[in-house]
Amino acid sequence: MDAIRICGGNTLCGEVSIQGSKNGTLPLLAASVLVKGKTVLRNCPEITDVDHMLKLLEYVGCKITRNRRTVEIDASYIRRTDFPSEHAVVMRSSIMLLGAMLGRMGEISTYYPGGCVIGERPIDMHMGALSQMGVSFTETESGLRAVSTGLHGGLVKLDFPSVGATENVILAAVLAKGETVVEGCAKEPEIVELCNFLIQAGAKITGAGESIIRIVGVESLKEICYRIMPDRIVAGTYLLAAVMTRGIVVLNDAPVSQMQELFRILQQMGADIALADQWVCLNGEHAGKAVPNIKTSVYPGFPTDLQSAFMAAFTVAKGCSIIEETIFESRFKIVSELSKMGADVNIIGNRAMICGVDSLTGCPVNAMELRGGAALVLAGLAASGTTIVENKHFIDRGYEDICRDLGALGANIRYV
Ligand code: UD1
Repeated sequence: MDAIRICGGNTLCGEVSIQGSKNGTLPLLAASVLVKGKTVLRNCPEITDVDHMLKLLEYVGCKITRNRRTVEIDASYIRRTDFPSEHAVVMRSSIMLLGAMLGRMGEISTYYPGGCVIGERPIDMHMGALSQMGVSFTETESGLRAVSTGLHGGLVKLDFPSVGATENVILAAVLAKGETVVEGCAKEPEIVELCNFLIQAGAKITGAGESIIRIVGVESLKEICYRIMPDRIVAGTYLLAAVMTRGIVVLNDAPVSQMQELFRILQQMGADIALADQWVCLNGEHAGKAVPNIKTSVYPGFPTDLQSAFMAAFTVAKGCSIIEETIFESRFKIVSELSKMGADVNIIGNRAMICGVDSLTGCPVNAMELRGGAALVLAGLAASGTTIVENKHFIDRGYEDICRDLGALGANIRYV
């Protein structure tokens, strides 16, 4: 069976270390094809999205050596420029290979990317930006072929600060001819991580984390060993687990500087938070208050990837909370499942009104995507009785071992 069983009601208490970042790792894996030699990534999370990305790299000719959280990619020889649909369509990040493979090989044939079903998720901005750098696209029967006879710099404007499109342009620009100036860039920490990695490998990039990034193309990148940053979304999930069970949780190796907006909302809920460099202690004993209005937005705003987890927390808060989703158009998929557990949630357009109930009741629920799946696990921790979250494979895409981590904090949780 592909499910997680939670017997709710335990107050979580203890310490947990935060795994490496999924959204930080995937662009670095794509970037490894730009290095004609070895890339070693440490603290690489053991999640299925990484498995799929490594399969894609292996397919085109990279040699992969993996020892737990250390992954070595030897991209000395790339033999092919197409990808198998089996791995490409299951995750959004296969699109990162577009910029990276164009930079290395000048061409790529791939499929339209998959990933969480949380909205339309078109790739028009990726294609538009790369076209401005000399790439031409043709539709194939099942996907897309992109060819460039010489990537060149220039001015690339993004209409919206898309994380993926910003990453793709950076990947295409590092080995392109001349200077690329990208306007309207995303400022997410994952962009900074990608730029730090590339700079360490010899790329010339300035402005990472700002809206204008400048990249001066270089001849080649050098071999590199890099430690991946911790996952801010996993860290946020575990803090919410403490909030929902009124527990006390300590996070080690947490990306504290990236979580300021999250801490602000958790404090509004009544949580007591103590911080050090990469360490957080949250006391959720009094963290039961509703928050009248929160709105997802681009970094440094409230991250859409934690929207579902907050929704789960608000279902048992005192009073009514409103969440406005501004990034993805279909990101309220867990509402039907939370309602089965007794939650009071109403959707109007891109807003959800969540009125807290005294308690949720455990029952079988279906995960439909990664972050929503994790939120249902949180709901199960606070519910009375047993909750079975089906389709745990969605959660495995981004969480190394959610049962190990929550179990270490005292949750009664296991895979079934
Ligand atoms: C990344 C993250 C994802 C996170 C999201 C927003 C990875 C692997 N995934 O996804 O977890 O939720 O950022 O922080 O890093 N859009 C277009 N056309 C495009 C590209 C995007 O219309 O060509 C739209 C999307 O449909 C969405 C919005 O722009 O509505 C934001 O998407 P984007 O920032 O690109 O997110 P991803 O990179 O897909």
